[in-house]
Amino acid sequence: IALKRSYRTKAPKSSQRSYIFQPQASYKVAILGAAGGIGQPLALLIKMSPLVSALNLYDIANVKGVAADISHCNTPSQVSDFTGESELANCLEDVDVVVIPAGVPRKPGMTRDDLFNINANIVKTLVEAVADNCPDAFIHIISNPVNSTVPIAAEVLKQKGVYDPKKLFGVTTLDVVRANTFVAQKKNLKLIDVDVPVVGGHAGITILPLLSKTKPSVTFTDEEVEELTVRIQNAGTEVVEAKAGAGSATLSMAYAAARFVESSLRALDGDSDVYECSYVQSDLTELPFFASRIKLGRKGVEAVISSELHGLTEYEQKALEALKPELKASIEKGVAFVQKQP
Ligand code: NAD
Ligand code: LMR
Repeated sequence: IALKRSYRTKAPKSSQRSYIFQPQASYKVAILGAAGGIGQPLALLIKMSPLVSALNLYDIANVKGVAADISHCNTPSQVSDFTGESELANCLEDVDVVVIPAGVPRKPGMTRDDLFNINANIVKTLVEAVADNCPDAFIHIISNPVNSTVPIAAEVLKQKGVYDPKKLFGVTTLDVVRANTFVAQKKNLKLIDVDVPVVGGHAGITILPLLSKTKPSVTFTDEEVEELTVRIQNAGTEVVEAKAGAGSATLSMAYAAARFVESSLRALDGDSDVYECSYVQSDLTELPFFASRIKLGRKGVEAVISSELHGLTEYEQKALEALKPELKASIEKGVAFVQKQP
């Protein structure tokens, strides 16, 4: 679809003889952690976007080859590589969307929170640079534990005096992608039509698919609800175990992150009909951050959609209450990490 849009031509008016290319939007996207398992396929997918004019790839190592490789694709964006801290500021100059998949992934037996000690610092350092160099950019946080890394990013931006809660997003699109896939399989539905909102956070029981809000409307038995909910909550672990020590989801994550980037760019470009689920600052519940469906606009989150939290089933209501203590603790851990720094 992206490529079709990219090269679509306009019929000539009256006496014009030649077809004219539609002007393309031109946004600048940076990926921090671009040489990694997610970063590489994500860079390739973003390279296919007709909305991108510049794609800046940053990592602490191995990014030159990735950029050289991807730059040979004959799509419009200009690819540039940036290695190490000394090149980070240049990478971020005038960027519209920054995607952060930098950090270590899980191995079997680990929780996402086990990544906190390493990834908290990586996210903090990278977001400090974002604050200094492109404070108006949309920031997409992929690095785990997302439930804590997003609050970390928010605190860093606050300390730098540039926090805009409408522009900071925890990427939870993969939970929606998985929920859509598993529900379509289970209920024999046409995949393209299925849309399941996933709320809460991005770890274990904090991932709450609202199956009762599935579109098109479907009915599930209690057993189906339990089976699907648990599978969606454990889908990351399913991949970690299948990869047996070689990391976590990378390809499906790149696909999901590319969808979220494309949605953000469409919103920046003035499309007034862009909705995604994302983990953002929110007043939907008593928790300061919460994933839910949001409307995206030119300035970021235009609205947090509350209607999907109304009329929950008893199962969903209980699951919502059950996730709150864990999500609250993860948020507080992230906030404390930044506030405790000298
Ligand atoms: P990976 O190890 O393959 O790649 C990580 C990359 O980050 C590497 O290239 C590494 O060099 C780079 N990096 C490390 N420190 C850096 C720094 N200070 N600055 C810039 N780059 C740095 O890991 P991966 O499989 O790509 O996963 C990355 C992260 O994404 C993990 O934390 C993982 O848990 C998370 N993840 C999140 C989701 C989600 O749904 N949000 C899904 C999958 C994975
Ligand atoms: C996922 O959901 O696949 C990611 O959060 C990676 C992981 O550790 O499971």
